[in-house]
Amino acid sequence: MSSSVVQIDEKVAAVVDELRAAVDHFAPVVFASSMGAEDMVLMDIIYRYNIDVDIFSIDTGRLPAETYALMAAAATHYGRRSVIYMPQAESVEIFVGAYGINGFFDSIDVRKACCHARKVEPLRRALAGKRAWVTGLRSSQSSTREAVVISAFDDNNGLQKINPLALWSDTEVWEYIHANGVPYNALHDQGFPSIGCAPCTRAIQPGEDIRAGRWWWENPETKECGLHMVDGRLQRIKVETV
Ligand code: ADX
Ligand code: SF4
Repeated sequence: MSSSVVQIDEKVAAVVDELRAAVDHFAPVVFASSMGAEDMVLMDIIYRYNIDVDIFSIDTGRLPAETYALMAAAATHYGRRSVIYMPQAESVEIFVGAYGINGFFDSIDVRKACCHARKVEPLRRALAGKRAWVTGLRSSQSSTREAVVISAFDDNNGLQKINPLALWSDTEVWEYIHANGVPYNALHDQGFPSIGCAPCTRAIQPGEDIRAGRWWWENPETKECGLHMVDGRLQRIKVETV
């Protein structure tokens, strides 16, 4: 057996332990899945090891067709469907009325208001009554994410936040996906390592940062949508593993 297979097996075992410990300490636990590569790894582990974590996705209404296709393909592959949260129609109507259908290109404040209506508010509803949430954040994804740790209290949302892949590399994510036949977004094979809403995501060039295609017209420091932010910065967290 090659050393990379052993290493990935050990890393998967650590993720399973982390998720089971989270369920023991913090049930009910939910997993927020954007259907990105990391999240497909976590979905596969949660289903494969029968871990008691409900999975949800936020459908912003502006996702790429490929992401919807993956939601359908994953439901068929696993025989299970995630819960889908949508933005509140009235908030989107007010936003679009005030700023236009693609108003998010006009300024960072308007872009953040769109992310708030379409992602952050639905997230608040998805997390209501839960004691921990799981995400696919990794520390090597971008400069704004270097501080990501495996488990810490999320002051912003008032519950524990578990990032089991915090220390996984991009290569390890893909090694797991290929080794286990995990379904993944077709856009990943077209130069999109990180996928969000269709109008705010584009392919990257070789050598670019893996989040360079997200809100590509903004500086790297502003490129967070609010799901993982406090006071305009990525949450700085105290390390407190379960
Ligand atoms: S984002 O904040 O810039 O959109 P990114 O796409 O890198 O984040 O995803 C980071 C993590 O945030 C994902 O692994 C997932 O846990 C959560 N997340 C992002 N988008 C969604 C979504 N639409 N639905 C559910 N969770 C999401
Ligand atoms: Fe709106 Fe773009 Fe944010 Fe999606 S990523 S919620 S379209 S600003």
